[in-house]
Amino acid sequence: MSLGKQSQPHSQSSSPMLFSLQGSLLTLAIFTLLSFIYFSLNSVHFSSSPTIHISADTNEQFSDIYHSPEVFRLNFAEMEAKFKVYIYPDGDPKTYYQTPRKLTGKYASEGYFFQNIRESRFRTDDPDQAHLFFIPISCHKMRGKNTTYDEMTVIVRDYVESLIFKYPYWNRTLGADHFFVTCHDVGVRATEGFPLLVKNSIRVVCSPSYDVGFIPHKDVALPQVLQPFALPAGGNDVENRTTLGFWAGHRNSKIRVILARVWENDTELYILNNRINRAEGNLLYQKKFYNTKFCICPGGSQVNSARITDSIHYGCIPVILSNYYDLPFNDILDWRKFAVILTEKDVYNLKQSLKDIPYSEFLTLHKNLVKVQQHFQWNSPPVKYDAFHMVMYDLWLRHHVIKY
Ligand SMILES: *[C@@H]1O[C@H](CO)[C@@H](O)[C@H](O)[C@H]1NC(C)=O
Ligand SMILES: *[C@@H]1O[C@H](CO)[C@@H](O)[C@H](O)[C@H]1NC(C)=O
Ligand SMILES: *[C@@H]1O[C@H](CO)[C@@H](O)[C@H](O)[C@H]1NC(C)=O
Ligand SMILES: *[C@@H]1O[C@H](CO)[C@@H](O)[C@H](O)[C@H]1NC(C)=O
Repeated sequence: MSLGKQSQPHSQSSSPMLFSLQGSLLTLAIFTLLSFIYFSLNSVHFSSSPTIHISADTNEQFSDIYHSPEVFRLNFAEMEAKFKVYIYPDGDPKTYYQTPRKLTGKYASEGYFFQNIRESRFRTDDPDQAHLFFIPISCHKMRGKNTTYDEMTVIVRDYVESLIFKYPYWNRTLGADHFFVTCHDVGVRATEGFPLLVKNSIRVVCSPSYDVGFIPHKDVALPQVLQPFALPAGGNDVENRTTLGFWAGHRNSKIRVILARVWENDTELYILNNRINRAEGNLLYQKKFYNTKFCICPGGSQVNSARITDSIHYGCIPVILSNYYDLPFNDILDWRKFAVILTEKDVYNLKQSLKDIPYSEFLTLHKNLVKVQQHFQWNSPPVKYDAFHMVMYDLWLRHHVIKY
């Protein structure tokens, strides 16, 4: 799915001992059938190949959930050793540049990134050492200052133009080794005032929906994480997960309206026709994630939602109900190993689809889900394999093809 698609060695399974023509034809037929099934299952998602099983116990965490566990492990280590990013120092830190917003709320991911990159080993003050250039302008911060969308577009354009005139780096690749981070979709739109930003630069965004101009091989999906979490992570707790499916929220999209209309009175799917306040004293909303097997994640006003990372955190298998969604870290993680991926039309058959998942498969999904929790969590300072490092890894994959 991405330019950084990881190659991996072929497994040994293709060298059976063949004693007769009949045997080889049979083998060929079985192999073809298996390949066919395999590729059908992966039709959406052509980047993967069969999981390598790593024997060493220390690498246990690298099995299952990655497309190419060994490649990820080695390439991640190389990234940690080498990756350097230059942050443009320009702009008044009191306005939209350089200073992170508070690290809470729906768009916390943006603030965390700004803070983390400054705290991290990836930052360099020497632009000649840099693989990538960070344009540190925070649309979230502009929103906090009541800036209109039109004003934002002009501010972004003027700022980027000032960098182009002052520094030689943009012109070398017309911005291909530059990136921009925004969690709010207004920030994505604000880049549209400067077409090269859309066309060439890497936009790290929370709303990776193709219909708003997300370019999958170039841009990076930033997970939307609502931190701090009100309650601890879910884990070894499957016996408490007695509700089949759960959703509660605003009906602010067509799919949500249909979801609520079709399933509102169901006895096995707990679908509420309205929102449960997250901040409610007894944390009813969060606790529901603890005793549910599958948490339904339909897109709202945007395709993304913090509900996906809430589900991951609380150990409830996310059920993605979207037609187009480049899920965060989709090119690294095999989402089908810890989530259920459906399209919008599947909403009518939702209950049966979930009931058809064997209990053993649910247990496997849940076990894998707990393994990915670390990748969808921000920390300050950042911690190896956390959300910040995963975003950096996605940037690292992209830098290979735009190296100046
Ligand atoms: C934000 O801007 C709008 C329109 O310019 C204005 O009506 C409103 O009072 C402003 N709000 C704040 C908090 O400044
Ligand atoms: C980069 O290119 C633009 C457009 O050609 C030019 O105006 C600008 O001065 C160049 N920047 C530098 C630092 O040379
Ligand atoms: C299951 O729920 C009960 C009651 O809320 C709680 O005391 C217990 O710790 C839970 N078990 C697990 C494994 O989380
Ligand atoms: C759910 O129950 C309410 C109240 O009884 C009813 O008005 C509504 O039509 C029901 N919805 C469905 C989909 O059956």
